[in-house]
Amino acid sequence: MQIKQIAVLGAGTMGHGIAYAAIAGGYETRMFDVSAASLSKGRAAIESILGKGVELGKVEPADSDAMQTRLTTTSNIADALEGADLVIEAAPEKIELKLSLLADVDRYAPESAIVATNTSALSITELAGSMKRPSRVAGMHFFNPVHKMKLIEIVQALESAPDTLQVIEDVSRRMGKETVLVRESPGFITTRVNASIGNEAFYMLMEGVASPRDIDKALKLGLNHPMGPFELVDLVGLDTRLSILEYLHKSLGEKYRPCPLLAQYVKAGRLGRKVGRGVYEY
Ligand SMILES: NC(=O)c1ccc[n+]([C@@H]2O[C@H](COP(=O)([O-])OP(=O)(O)OC[C@H]3O[C@@H](n4cnc5c(N)ncnc54)[C@H](O)[C@@H]3O)[C@@H](O)[C@H]2O)c1
Repeated sequence: MQIKQIAVLGAGTMGHGIAYAAIAGGYETRMFDVSAASLSKGRAAIESILGKGVELGKVEPADSDAMQTRLTTTSNIADALEGADLVIEAAPEKIELKLSLLADVDRYAPESAIVATNTSALSITELAGSMKRPSRVAGMHFFNPVHKMKLIEIVQALESAPDTLQVIEDVSRRMGKETVLVRESPGFITTRVNASIGNEAFYMLMEGVASPRDIDKALKLGLNHPMGPFELVDLVGLDTRLSILEYLHKSLGEKYRPCPLLAQYVKAGRLGRKVGRGVYEY
């Protein structure tokens, strides 16, 4: 199946990044959002990424113009989905909201369209099961910021067909990304490993094994991680990390029990960079 037109649902942090990757891959792209403010912010962010690319000589001005002409924004869901070959859903992580959006996809997108969701943690099998085309649904888990991060985790739900996964793989490559294939499972690969490392770092801090700075330094210089676990959790948000661990604990068992010190930091309001203090002060 040849993909020409992509509908991106949601123009937020991830949606606009995905729309950028889609126009960069040569696809006609319609970016939909219920909020006009998000749509114009998303478009401005894409223009800014392209502007920087031109400034640095990484993107030809003519290519930047061509990419921008491939992008349309709309707050009309039927317009966004008309004629779409691939729909990528990047709406907020709320099951009812995604289910209602996917019902619209069944209503307005061609029956042949493939549907990918960027959900971080919801069951893709459940989302697919709500649709008339479960075999044409799979996960496409992008990373933030999308224009810089190379990986896409392709997530195979119970009924995702091999053809569906192949199309998503091909599109990912045209977007300039590398992929890994993972069967649906809590936290996929990256979130699960990352949450474990972050949790272990908090246990070490609680036990007085080393200071945050030394734990971060050890992982950066000794294990070649680009960021230390505390620098990273401050960026992600300690509350976000805690809720991920709670979910992994509930679904995968004891080894993901959130460290009590992490829970205590959250109670103290030390949520990370976004509030000016987390493990570190900013
Ligand atoms: N932020 C990350 O680092 C990250 C990474 C990977 C995956 N994800 C997943 O991507 C999805 C989107 O997350 P985000 O961080 O971009 O959120 P966000 O809050 O930045 O953006 C969500 C956008 O969806 C819009 N929206 C609200 N209701 C909508 C609807 N009914 N239809 C279409 N759009 C609607 C909002 O106006 C907003 O612009 C979530 O499922 C999240 O779990 C996020």
